Formats: sequence, C-alpha cells, structure tokens
Amino acid sequence: MSARRPRVRDVALDVVWRADRGSRFVDDVLASALRRGLERTDRALVTEIVHGVMRWRGTLDVVIDGARDGGRMKPRMRWILRVALYSCLFLDTTEDRVAVSAAVDAARRSFGRGGASLANAVLRRAIADWPRETVEHADATRDIELGDGVVRRGPAGSFPAEPIANLAARGSLPPWLVTRWVERFGIDEARAIVRAQNRRPGVHVVALDGDVAGVRDRLAALGIDGVPTETGVAITRGASRLHDDDAFATSGLVVQDPAQATVVPALGVSSGDTVLEVGAAPGTKTLMLAHAVGPGGRVVALDRSQRRCASVTAALERAGLAARVDVVCLDASALLPAFDGRFSHVLVDAPCSNTGVLARRSDARWRIEPDAIDLLASRQRALLTAAAGAVAPGGRLVYATCSLEREENREVVDSVVDSSGASLRLDTDASTPPSADHDGGYWARLLSARPDRG
Ligand SMILES: C[S@@+](CC[C@H](N)C(=O)[O-])C[C@H]1O[C@@H](n2cnc3c(N)ncnc32)[C@H](O)[C@@H]1O
Repeated sequence: MSARRPRVRDVALDVVWRADRGSRFVDDVLASALRRGLERTDRALVTEIVHGVMRWRGTLDVVIDGARDGGRMKPRMRWILRVALYSCLFLDTTEDRVAVSAAVDAARRSFGRGGASLANAVLRRAIADWPRETVEHADATRDIELGDGVVRRGPAGSFPAEPIANLAARGSLPPWLVTRWVERFGIDEARAIVRAQNRRPGVHVVALDGDVAGVRDRLAALGIDGVPTETGVAITRGASRLHDDDAFATSGLVVQDPAQATVVPALGVSSGDTVLEVGAAPGTKTLMLAHAVGPGGRVVALDRSQRRCASVTAALERAGLAARVDVVCLDASALLPAFDGRFSHVLVDAPCSNTGVLARRSDARWRIEPDAIDLLASRQRALLTAAAGAVAPGGRLVYATCSLEREENREVVDSVVDSSGASLRLDTDASTPPSADHDGGYWARLLSARPDRG
C-alpha cells in the first residue's frame, strides 16, 4: 500500500500547485485531476489532502517557518512541505516516512540534492517539534486542535501572544477576517466559528418533497447510510455513490447542507406558483422549486454564467424536472421589464464572500480581500432591487447568502427595503453561524405590499 501513497501525494501537490499558479479554484483543478483514473480510495485521499492543505495552509506555514533557519523559500518548495506536513500532522493514518519520502523526492525533482535535503530537514524538525497529544483542555496559545481532545502541541511562542493574531494563526485564517468576527461576535463565538471553518464538512441529503422522515429509507435503498437531522440525513457511509449513481439523481433527493435546507421552505412555494430564481446555478434550489411548483407551475431560473446555466439544465434533466423550468442565462442586476411584477415568489440566492462556508470552499479564505465585502454588498443591493421589481403585489421575496457578514446580509435587506418606498417589508430573517454539523448562512423573507384597494 505504501508503494502507491507517494503517487497520491504527487497528484495532491500537482492540484494545489496548479490552482495557486493559475489562480484557479481548487475544486475545478481537483475535479479534472480526479477524472484521470485514480482508484476510489486514492481519490478520497487526494481530496482530503488537497482540501486539508488549503484549509490549514496558514497554520502549516507557521510550523514550517518555525522549523527552518529563515531566508527565502521558493513557492513550490513551500507547497511540497505543506502537502507533506498536512499528512503528517493531521492524518493519523499516515506514516510520516511515506509523506516525507514523497516530499523529498518531489523536492529533488524540482530543486536537486540541496532541495531534497532542505525538505528532509524541515519536515523532520517540524514533526519532532509538534508531537500528537491527547489533552483534557487545549492550550489556547500553543495547540493545533485536531478534534476529540487530540492536539499537536508545539514549542511555546510558536503562535503570537495577542489573542486575535493567535486565533488567526492557530485557526489558519486571515487576521482581518478573524478581527471582524471578534468585533461582531466576541472572542468565544469567534473561536467557535474558526473551529467550524476548519472541520471536514460532511455530506447532507434532503428530500425534494420535504419528507424528512423518509430520507433515510430512500438512501438505504441506494446502499447509503446516515443519521437523521432536523432537515434530512447526514451521510456516514457510501457518500461517493451519490455522484457515481444515476439512481440518486432520480431518487427525489439532493445533497444540501442543513444551513441551506431552510431557504426554499422559507419562500413557501405551493403547487401552481410562478417562481423566479436569481442566481440559480448549479441548480440545487432550482430542483427544489421545480418540485414545489408541481406540473402546473413554472420556474424561471436565471444565472449570468453560460457554463453554470448548463449545469442547471443538466441537473434538471437528470431529475426529470426540466419541463417545469426555463433556464435563462442573463445578468439579473438589470432585469428585463418583461419580468415586472410577474412572479408570486422570487428567490435571490446571491453571490457572496462565502464566509459561512469556508470549510467547504477550502481556498475561499485565501482569495477574499477585505474590500471585497463592500463591493459584493453593492452588487447584492443591485440584484435584490432588480429582483424586487419582479415580485407581484402581495408576493414574497427571499434573499439568501452563505456569508456571515452583516454588510452582505441584513444591511443589504434594510437598504433595499428602505429605498422601496414601503412597497417591501421585512417579514423575518435568520442568521446561522457555522458549527460542527453545518455551514453558516443567512436568509430574509420580504413581503411585497398588496395593491391599495381604497
Ligand atoms: C450562491 S450561487 C447560487 C446557488 C444555487 N441557487 C444553488 O442552490 O445551487 C450564486 C449564483 O449567482 C450567479 N450570479 C452572480 N451574479 C449574477 C447576476 N448579476 N445575474 C445572475 N446571476 C448571477 C452566479 O453565477 C452563481 O451561480
């Protein structure tokens, strides 16, 4: 088995390196690497290493820098060390010598004998400096928490003493983001959020027809096990079948995180309704809406990306629901006048900073810039304002994001309601911070005023 492990690490290294060099989404690079004929267990390990390295990159760098003598380090050497060190520190199934030898070989191929000996020296020292321990309480200044009381405890002073900088370094997050969360939620809640952002996110399945109680049996019929949640089932075994198996696509089930599973129900769609979805791709909520409107209703699913519109159409076709939906590739910030007041229900599933789903979008934390939040908020206001024009009098509008930032959530809603001249009012909203079991997110339900009968 160990003979093929170095190959797995080479693939993982290739993915993170190409994603970084090409500024590409790691999910896209990973998806194309996985198509190249790896065995199922190797695919799982490559996926684990790639996402783990992206999530823990900041903390891995602290460990790497503490184990070397300074000076500049070539970017590729750093990625080689990150991949090996993630395996050694975070995967208890990995033999250190396998990961180290793969890294030393990769460093030799790229940098010759000097590179090989540098990789060997840094990794051996880092592994020795950060032993694995089981503790009753993690030390909030020194430990990297692996969960269930297991930590890697490094030398005193490895992380900064100042609490926010310490949390950012130990939790592998940009300090500006941690500063925001501490200011808004307080240090304890910020710690819990940081921990949730570094979990390995699970796979959660819901039923299109909302039959929560039946999900487990329907999965069992496909050979997939899980434990029930409030909205569906968290998968414990057989998750890879969800993607391989056509039977899943036609089972009336979809993969959706619990934090997202309350968004479509908040819209309260009934059979026969006419629904507009703004920001539809890849189409999970479109499937739910198409199911909810029934054969007599209609969904118009808008997305501005041609490529992503194709994925909505494909998902609808696989599920046998394409006849109920018009997929329209359009920039919705300037909606067509033809849409004015036409829809009883409108869902705006807005593009956002993704700060509620950093565990799942493992590279997002390193992509987002502090000033992106205000820019996103102004785009979100434009989308919501345009979408509000499409709501029929007396209709409903749900605005959703997977962000934790108030500027992208309640502030967008308040600003659009304020400038609507009383034609919109906020009915209710819900903010969910991420946890051990689910992502974070936000939704708000707005009601459009009924026509004045006086
Ligand atoms: C959060 S994702 C939608 C997720 C989707 N509703 C689901 O549940 O599977 C946001 C989507 O909005 C789209 N988008 C961004 N700006 C847009 C715009 N101005 N007009 C239309 N779609 C837009 C993006 O292409 C992206 O697919």
